[in-house]
Amino acid sequence: MAKITKAVIPAAGFGTRFLPATKATPKEMLPIVDKPTIQYIVEEALASGIEEILIISGHAKRAIEDHFDSAPNLERVLEEQGKDDLLAMVRETADINVHYIRQKKMRGLGDAVLCAKTFMAGEPFAVLLGDDLVYNDTKKGEKPALKQLIDIYDAYGGSVLGCQQVPHEKVSSYGIVSGKEIAGGKLLKVTDMVEKPDLNEAPTNVAALGRYIISPSIFPLLEQTKPGKGGEIQLTDALKQLAKIEPVWAYCFEGQRYDVGDKLGFLKATVEYALRREDLGEKFKAYIQELNTKFIR
Ligand code: G1P
Repeated sequence: MAKITKAVIPAAGFGTRFLPATKATPKEMLPIVDKPTIQYIVEEALASGIEEILIISGHAKRAIEDHFDSAPNLERVLEEQGKDDLLAMVRETADINVHYIRQKKMRGLGDAVLCAKTFMAGEPFAVLLGDDLVYNDTKKGEKPALKQLIDIYDAYGGSVLGCQQVPHEKVSSYGIVSGKEIAGGKLLKVTDMVEKPDLNEAPTNVAALGRYIISPSIFPLLEQTKPGKGGEIQLTDALKQLAKIEPVWAYCFEGQRYDVGDKLGFLKATVEYALRREDLGEKFKAYIQELNTKFIR
């Protein structure tokens, strides 16, 4: 069975939910504490064994390319100042093997993934969505979300969708999955999928949350997929068709997931990532406790 070594990260969207911040800055470059959201995603991919990353970029996304490039002037200054830690940090992001393709028209997530067809060269691949951050404490031996999916793929083959249950009132924000339970309920064999259903039409509350292992058979299906929800070419619609011809699994992965495409989700991620930081956590916790008496009565 082919090993999963390639991943695609769609990052062409306008990020309108974060205007005006995203007028000239890609939303993927907005930092959680001091690291751009896309770097967390790239690090998860690398920690899961991915070797080649394709970013689907678009208009006004140059900052992403600069971020994963070398920065000779900055490196020289840091070197002269003897700031070795910062220098290592800056160089580390330049060493990552990242490729880019531009999506010229915003036709939806399905169309963005279709842009990766040639790069994937007939191999199964991973997709990571930048709005979904998943925290797992790898120092304590917890596996990154994508690695959990790769392990399922290695055992069962086919395609694997990273899922979690979401509150019922949130189903209309996600691709919702239904299927037959296998192995004690954490794994489903997908029989149907629906993109952002109305609350009363959702078959389950199991949502696809931004991590996928996908068979290359998806590409001809994406080519045939007509615009669906919101007038966009939906990955969910093509995955539903894929499930009719090949096994598609939905795996409920472990980890704290944050929707950083949403303002409240972004704030929650910022606070919780800061609280977990060795260099900031204690001081930040004291500050939050102070706020508790100042603002929350
Ligand atoms: C996309 C997918 C959806 C998925 C979601 C996860 O939607 O279309 O199926 O559940 O990501 O975050 P978006 O949030 O980009 O509209």
